[in-house]
Amino acid sequence: MKTAITEMFGIEHPIIQGGMHYVGFAEMAAAVSNAGGLGIITGLTQGTPEKLANEIARCKDMTDKPFGVNLTILPTLTPPDYPGLVKAVIEGGVKVVETAGRNPVDLLPPLKDAGIKVIHKCTSVRHSLKAQDIGCDAVSVDGFECGGHPGEDDVPNFILLPRAADELEIPFVSSGGMADGRSLVASLAMGAQGMNMGTRFIATKEAPVHENVKQAILAATELDTRLVMRPLRNTERVLNNAAVERLILKEKELGDAITIQDILPEVAGVYPKIMTEGTMDAGAWSCGMVAGLIHDIPTCKELIDRIMLQAEEIIARMQAQARA
Ligand SMILES: Cc1cc2nc3c(=O)[nH]c(=O)nc-3n(C[C@H](O)[C@H](O)[C@H](O)COP(=O)(O)O)c2cc1C
Repeated sequence: MKTAITEMFGIEHPIIQGGMHYVGFAEMAAAVSNAGGLGIITGLTQGTPEKLANEIARCKDMTDKPFGVNLTILPTLTPPDYPGLVKAVIEGGVKVVETAGRNPVDLLPPLKDAGIKVIHKCTSVRHSLKAQDIGCDAVSVDGFECGGHPGEDDVPNFILLPRAADELEIPFVSSGGMADGRSLVASLAMGAQGMNMGTRFIATKEAPVHENVKQAILAATELDTRLVMRPLRNTERVLNNAAVERLILKEKELGDAITIQDILPEVAGVYPKIMTEGTMDAGAWSCGMVAGLIHDIPTCKELIDRIMLQAEEIIARMQAQARA
């Protein structure tokens, strides 16, 4: 299937694996790219330019297909070395960067000069238009369903995607709640040129995370995620567990007086414990409502092939129905 996104990124299928902390290692990105999608290494999981350069080199050893790097711009007092990370991306010959979080305007000039395509992840139409204005090549539109940070507007994709289509001139992909061929056809119907998946790609054979994480996703239903950190205006959709229940209790008790210090035990440094060690109650970790649609652990190729087959079957069936 050819779309503006497959053409822009030089990929076979319009399917992207979004950056994921402690999931988006070289193994994950290479598996998705080898299956014809766009795999993405998570820059901040590596943390330093040297480590990111090494991860990019490892990924190149595993695939000769295009892959990307995610640079998440966090509101923090001690920011990572973003110019150094950008340099590692450019020198590593990476052709696509997924930016997320704050406005990526400061990162754009060196990336654009190097001919790198930038797709910015946005949770609202106004941020998508801003991304277009500052020169991003594409947008990943993340609805309220998404795992990770859905923003503060709470607009689900059935509204957000057609709204984005009505306003944007650059291509965009849907993100949040996407799992199968139905998701892809619906995204295309609403004006997207492809789809981005996070949670679905964690439950694959190649995802370099502990088996407990994959089993937790399989066991979860669409009712099992919670929104945390809303009082801090840093809302995150996570899978419910004992640590999340503790966190939510603190939010109720402390109300507007809550600070990040109050919840550090539940959110700081928990990803290696969960993703690598499989200690599932170690803290709050991002997971989408789409867990309710995930029932198996295929390889990335099996997953992507079956999405494309199902999408093509749905389109053919609809065309046949229209002619009947
Ligand atoms: C475990 C996990 C970690 C994530 N970490 C990041 C991250 O570091 N940076 C980022 O931009 N998005 C991150 N995301 C968001 C994903 O890239 C993607 O936008 C989101 O998962 C889409 O929603 P879905 O899970 O319903 O597919 C993360 C998502 C998950 C599930």
